[in-house]
Amino acid sequence: MAMQSVRQRFFQIIRESDKKRFLSSQQIIDRDNKYGGIHFKPLPVVLTRGEGVYLWDVDGKRYLDFLAGFSTVNQGHSHPRLVKIMRDQVGKVTHTSRAFYSEPHGELGEYLTKLLGWDRFLPMNTGVEGGETAIKIARRWGYRVKKVQSNKATVVFAENNFWGRTLAALSASSDPNCYTDFGPYMPLFEKVPYNDLAALEKKFQENPNICAFMMEPVQGEAGVVVPSDGYLKGVRELCTKYNVLWIADEVQTGLGRTGTRLAIDHEGCRPDILILGKALSGGMYPVSGVLADDQIMLCLETGSHGSTFGGSPLGNRVALEAVKIIEEENLAENAKKLGKILKEELSKVPKDIATEFRGRGLLAGLIIKKEFAEGWDICLKLRDAGLLTRPAHGQIIRISPPLTITEGQLREGINILTTVLKNYK
Ligand SMILES: Cc1ncc(COP(=O)(O)O)c(C=O)c1O
Repeated sequence: MAMQSVRQRFFQIIRESDKKRFLSSQQIIDRDNKYGGIHFKPLPVVLTRGEGVYLWDVDGKRYLDFLAGFSTVNQGHSHPRLVKIMRDQVGKVTHTSRAFYSEPHGELGEYLTKLLGWDRFLPMNTGVEGGETAIKIARRWGYRVKKVQSNKATVVFAENNFWGRTLAALSASSDPNCYTDFGPYMPLFEKVPYNDLAALEKKFQENPNICAFMMEPVQGEAGVVVPSDGYLKGVRELCTKYNVLWIADEVQTGLGRTGTRLAIDHEGCRPDILILGKALSGGMYPVSGVLADDQIMLCLETGSHGSTFGGSPLGNRVALEAVKIIEEENLAENAKKLGKILKEELSKVPKDIATEFRGRGLLAGLIIKKEFAEGWDICLKLRDAGLLTRPAHGQIIRISPPLTITEGQLREGINILTTVLKNYK
């Protein structure tokens, strides 16, 4: 009798844990909505596995990923080299903090500085911390090198920028959803229209206390806004002329996404501070960081900055491998080649459906006419047809697949998208 009740209890536990293991998609979504914050609205699909350009949901349905975690998984999901390096490093040492030295820190710094051409690399974790770090360095430089009067250092941002959700980032934002009711805001953050050199020069002329201009070489979250040719060169010239640091936020555009190693390479120019994130770790672990030359980076001295996790052996090791993959698999070249096909094909979508296609490399957006359909509803139909992405600002269908995508897979995705649009009504 006692034995039987032990058996019964055993099977009851198995049944209960099975029930927990096999929740339906809807149950998983409901649980999220009940216990999580509601600050983001995920598309209703529950993903459980990824490989290359594909994702699978809990019911085993396969999807082509046209978002790549907002341009993070440039190397494709679960790239075998990244999985291996993670496993190897986890078995050695993951975290020491910067209280001590560990080999991967200098190894990543040496690789990135030699590859990209700045003197130093300072690793952080998320993209927004990269931005915060860049601005701290720029303010320090403003006081110590440019000799801006104490507490007067001003930072100028491009309108419609997006660089994250901290209080400093939202203070720079032009999007009311991002900043409303989070004030008071960071002082001496100003904005100029993007892609407008005359407005930038006017700003620089009016205020000698400007220490930095921060912008994205292609604005990602604004809806893939590609500046006119010559804008980046013009920014470089104005920043040099007015002794202002140019901070290029390449958290989204960097590392192959726009068809060159960095988006600034389209005009062959070099900012004073470069911010990287997202694809820097291929989605394995949050790694971001900034690159700058000695006279700028060394404005931060011991004790002035830091992060418990930033620069960890695990993060550094995975980032090194992630960047090597982008280089060795020629992913920027692939983005350039396939970006042309994407543009060619999606520019053919009739204007009563999509008013515009915007893009550079494999960072693209198709702007759906509001009278035709809501971007969200199109994304739901795309999901049903086996393709995952999300709209930006309601109507802009983002197209940013992993850069490992083949021409065949890209055409498969384009075909799903155009068929869904054709049959929508
Ligand atoms: C250009 C840019 N900078 C910074 C960030 C912020 O990165 P994170 O969300 O990792 O903080 C983003 C995020 O989308 C971004 O697109």
